[in-house]
Amino acid sequence: MNKKNKKAKRMYNIAVIPGDGIGQEVVKAAVTILDKLPIDFNYTYAKAGDECKEETGVPLPDETIELAKNSDAVLFGAAGETAADVIVRLRRELNTFVNLRPVKSLQPDKYGNIDFMIVRENTEDLYIGDEEETPEGAIARKKITKFASERIAKYAFKYAEDTGRKKVTAVHKANVLKLSDGLFKKSFYKIAEQYPDIESNDFYVDATAMYLITNPLDFEVIVTTNLYGDILSDEGAGLVGGLGMIPSANIGDDNGLFEPVHGSAPDIAGQGIANPAATILSACMMLDYLGESQYARKVEEILIDVIQEGSHVTPDLGGDSSTQEMAEYIASKL
Ligand code: NAI
Ligand code: MG
Repeated sequence: MNKKNKKAKRMYNIAVIPGDGIGQEVVKAAVTILDKLPIDFNYTYAKAGDECKEETGVPLPDETIELAKNSDAVLFGAAGETAADVIVRLRRELNTFVNLRPVKSLQPDKYGNIDFMIVRENTEDLYIGDEEETPEGAIARKKITKFASERIAKYAFKYAEDTGRKKVTAVHKANVLKLSDGLFKKSFYKIAEQYPDIESNDFYVDATAMYLITNPLDFEVIVTTNLYGDILSDEGAGLVGGLGMIPSANIGDDNGLFEPVHGSAPDIAGQGIANPAATILSACMMLDYLGESQYARKVEEILIDVIQEGSHVTPDLGGDSSTQEMAEYIASKL
């Protein structure tokens, strides 16, 4: 997922959008770690989210969109109730058509050796937000196109090929949504023909929700539509230690936006106890995208050691360190 032509460049313009709640805390933690690397990051902070809406009247100001579009990469924390108008819109504005969500157990002794990638279509499905009120209630339209379905299937197979994975599983509900999810499934198998060395199969989303719990080791790469990808990635988080553990990368032809899978977590916001791992791992995905993979691996390695050591981790991981203490401990080992 390297951004083209960025390899030789050692100075990067990063748009930083911490957003709401724990977004502020976990982004600060990730920046603490990025600051320790021998890479020149030029950060520009921008507003978005519930607080921004209260302050400025809009949840996602045009300046923030422009900044994001013109940066080398975007590091995003979380939005609150305005998430649909902020992050879902940003993904669309940046045309980051794929959302990569690795579900990997960093404590294999505790959770088994779970390691699969969710490749989520990021531009359409019910998340186009086309809803209308009707006399009886409301209707939401679900958009599935051949173009986007084939594009995401291609990405998933190419990803499998590049990373040595042997199987790609499509997840849908084509038995009920015959036209829309039916097209997604058909597009998947059309692309699968171009990758005869990679096994392809498909499951309904409801069955997948169970298989993820009963047979998580059977999955290598899951490719799915926007809504199912959103739901299954939180389920994936539940398999490997919670939402504090799962990062994500939104990738398009011209832009990359990196964010934890979790939201603003109002139940723990302001207490300094949010697990920063998901955002630190998102920053690692950003480093990969920028062509700085050696540093991505280094940070990951130290993060995993720190989590397994268990003495400087947040309460969700069984420790009593704060978000920032955990980040500083990781940074001290770099
Ligand atoms: P959430 O992801 O914020 O929290 C779900 C649960 O996981 C909570 O119990 C929370 O304490 C825990 N959790 C999340 N991140 C954690 C971390 N880093 N460390 C430890 N525990 C963590 O989802 P929820 O509660 O459904 O939504 C809260 C708000 O976030 C809502 O306003 C929602 O719209 C927004 N949201 C925003 C997203 C985004 O900006 N990408 C994604 C999901 C929700
Ligand atoms: Mg979600």
